[in-house]
Amino acid sequence: MSSPPAAGRAAVLSGLGTCLPSRVVTNDDLARHLDTSHEWIHSRTGIARRRVAAPHTGTAELAAAAGRAALASAGRTGCDLVLVATTTPDRTCPATAPRVASLLDLSGTAAFDLSAVCSGFVYALAVASSLITAGTCESALVIGAERYSTITDPDDRSTAILFGDGAGAVLLERGTAARDGAVLHTDLGSDGTGEELITVPPGERYLRMRGREVYARAVPAMVDSTRRVAKAVGWEPGEIEGLIGHQANIRILQAVARRLELPAERLVAHLEDVGNTAAASIPLAMAHAAEERRLAPGARTVLTAFGGGLTWGSAALTWADVTPVHHLEPDAAG
Ligand code: UT7
Repeated sequence: MSSPPAAGRAAVLSGLGTCLPSRVVTNDDLARHLDTSHEWIHSRTGIARRRVAAPHTGTAELAAAAGRAALASAGRTGCDLVLVATTTPDRTCPATAPRVASLLDLSGTAAFDLSAVCSGFVYALAVASSLITAGTCESALVIGAERYSTITDPDDRSTAILFGDGAGAVLLERGTAARDGAVLHTDLGSDGTGEELITVPPGERYLRMRGREVYARAVPAMVDSTRRVAKAVGWEPGEIEGLIGHQANIRILQAVARRLELPAERLVAHLEDVGNTAAASIPLAMAHAAEERRLAPGARTVLTAFGGGLTWGSAALTWADVTPVHHLEPDAAG
């Protein structure tokens, strides 16, 4: 599914926020009870440490803190829509987003969850941006929030080393395609025949992943989707100035960049410090890129993701001149 190239009206990114749990779990910490090592994990994935939420912190608390930070980054106090992309909602029913809206003092605002696993943020960005360009709403908080520690088997060394908890958010506002931060085009896809590759099997608690097969599917899917989204906005793949991919494995990101013939320095990598945070990984990587001033305002940027479903998606945008705001994990009382 592809959205038409934006002409005139567009959703424009105006704020960027994050919330990471305070507890850090290093590879050495994991190696104390799993048959693994820092060397194996770091050389195979690029991950050195990840964050794990405190027992009292739900996905909603992480999402609300990141959402509040994105609003502060944009200098706003409200919005018309709260959209939470998550694989790990606090409850099966109801959705997480209405509670997030109420934690943000935005009761009355439209709010819903979107489930597309690691592609969730790009899917949510596409939906929110379409609602804004259609005139359904003026502004939207798009939040990727995960608490994978609730579905990760601590005794499974093939997954326990990968995932982390956290949340990242952007504020989108109605503007024009000429503005820095404009979402210009999105490309979404899925293949349900691969549902067994990343799944919490029915009746079970923990995620199971066939990592090598996922790896093999992820690279061509992200490359093809990036090519489609770039072509739609008239960019040669080599003209992409910032490629912000889902942070699953540094080797996947490097393989995608190589196939697109992009120099490694155009790749944004943030997984060393936070691991794979699924739907939160792209907004966390965007905030990292903004913090490090990796991209100039207006730079040609592509977000690209692949994950369970199977699902994939990409978005082409120009880089926004925003300063990210980081909020701490709320304490038990807050
Ligand atoms: O976020 C959604 C999308 N997810 C992804 O994109 C994940 C994609 N997959 C991956 O990133 C990689 O496949 C992994 C990092 C999960 C695994 O890396 P790999 O290079 O594909 O390793 P492998 O699964 O093929 O395993 C190689 C060996 C095996 O041993 P044998 O059979 O060769 O003796 C595993 O048992 O490494 C072993 N192994 C480990 N050894 C030490 C697996 N996990 C570990 C571990 N520590 N943690």
